Amino acid sequence: MTQTTETPEAGDLATSLPRHDVADLSLAAQGRARIEWADRAMPVLRQVRARFAKERPFAGARIAACMHVTTETANLMRALVAGGAEVVLCASNPLSTQDDTAAALVAEYGVSTYARNGIDRDGYYAHIDAALDLAPHYVFDDGCDLVNTLHTARTDVLGEVLAGCEETTTGVIRLRRMAAEGALRFPVVAVNDTDTKHMFDNRYGTGQSTLDAIFRATNTLLAGKTVVVAGYGYCGRGVASRAKGLGANVVVTEIDPTKALDAAMDGFRILPMAKAAAVGDVFITVTGNRDVIRPEHIELMRDGAILANSGHFDVEIDILGLAAMAVDGPRRVRPSTDEYVLADGRRVLLLAEGRLVNLGAAEGHPAAVMDMSFADQALTAEWLTTAAGTLAPGVHDVPTEIDKRVASLKIETMGIDIDTPTPAQVEYLNSWRHGS
Ligand SMILES: NC(=O)c1ccc[n+]([C@@H]2O[C@H](COP(=O)([O-])OP(=O)(O)OC[C@H]3O[C@@H](n4cnc5c(N)ncnc54)[C@H](O)[C@@H]3O)[C@@H](O)[C@H]2O)c1
Repeated sequence: MTQTTETPEAGDLATSLPRHDVADLSLAAQGRARIEWADRAMPVLRQVRARFAKERPFAGARIAACMHVTTETANLMRALVAGGAEVVLCASNPLSTQDDTAAALVAEYGVSTYARNGIDRDGYYAHIDAALDLAPHYVFDDGCDLVNTLHTARTDVLGEVLAGCEETTTGVIRLRRMAAEGALRFPVVAVNDTDTKHMFDNRYGTGQSTLDAIFRATNTLLAGKTVVVAGYGYCGRGVASRAKGLGANVVVTEIDPTKALDAAMDGFRILPMAKAAAVGDVFITVTGNRDVIRPEHIELMRDGAILANSGHFDVEIDILGLAAMAVDGPRRVRPSTDEYVLADGRRVLLLAEGRLVNLGAAEGHPAAVMDMSFADQALTAEWLTTAAGTLAPGVHDVPTEIDKRVASLKIETMGIDIDTPTPAQVEYLNSWRHGS
């Protein structure tokens, strides 16, 4: 693994670099330019960073983060460092790592980083292991792999951890299971569950970036096509509404009757996957569940069907099942697009190897939406520096004040004014005495 002895090549790079394993340090200047571009669309996080630089809430704190190594995450790391933290970042997904961002974090911002695009499973876990060598006080996770490793392979540093933050739906579900079994040893805050995260990041971020990824990978025209969206949670709603806006006929599949009803009343056709498989041109899974598209479904699909997953793990499409059915492939026909040929000659296209397509084949969410998610993360981490000791091991909510503060700051930066309730309105809303 590359270590601190490596000499930077770009002109003004620091000579003493933090611990790292990244693909190519010569990409640092390009990475810095992209991180600064994202920063322009992150005014809330920028304000938080400026305040952190003055108040230094993390002085003396060690923070390990396992997140997508993107320009937006880089700006979160900058905020934590400005606040005085010693930070290490490793990737939460092997395909989402932007190698130039990773290089810039190390060489331009002095953040210890372990991330290489396309690294194999062993390398992925070696990076988590290296990050945990920091013996962190606080952990930031996206999908629960870091917290899982702490409770299994790295119990030697588990006792140092005071608290953590979790970024995504799937991670929160895993953490709640750990907590229910009494396995979770420290408090973790479900940042995903704030309104300013899931209502915008999951919905508008995943909605836009998932389609962006499908376009980049295939350049397909959605107008007039049938797009099957599996799962009508926050992410699925975003994907379905964006696809509809582009002229696609959208079919939704669900297992929850309430969500199916919601989709039906939003004007979408609801089918079980066994029927949707035969009519779809593009399939997008966003369920957080496994085996949503299986060989029996693929068997029914049209020639040229496109399969993409935007759920957290690469388990939503049965990739091994697809490979077993194929007589040829996978053959890379375009970047992030692998073609499998079935026995009767039909071709099935799998994007980003079935991993999070918006991060594997595009750049993830737009920075403007991550501005809120990562302001939530930064402010929650600041709150934890005083609150961690008062929280029992388990999964906790972000305080509502933080959620509301992020929303207020965001609308302020967007130039949006809202009304302030009058004293009579406040009294009315808080009283049970009023009747008809
Ligand atoms: N791509 C991204 O950048 C990104 C961003 C946020 C969240 N995520 C991930 O996306 C996934 C969904 O997140 P969410 O916030 O929408 O979750 P959610 O819980 O709001 O929605 C998931 C929906 O999928 C449905 N579902 C479960 N199994 C199904 C099946 N077999 N067939 C059809 N529907 C099924 C559920 O009933 C639910 O309505 C999670 O894995 C989450 O971690 C990805």
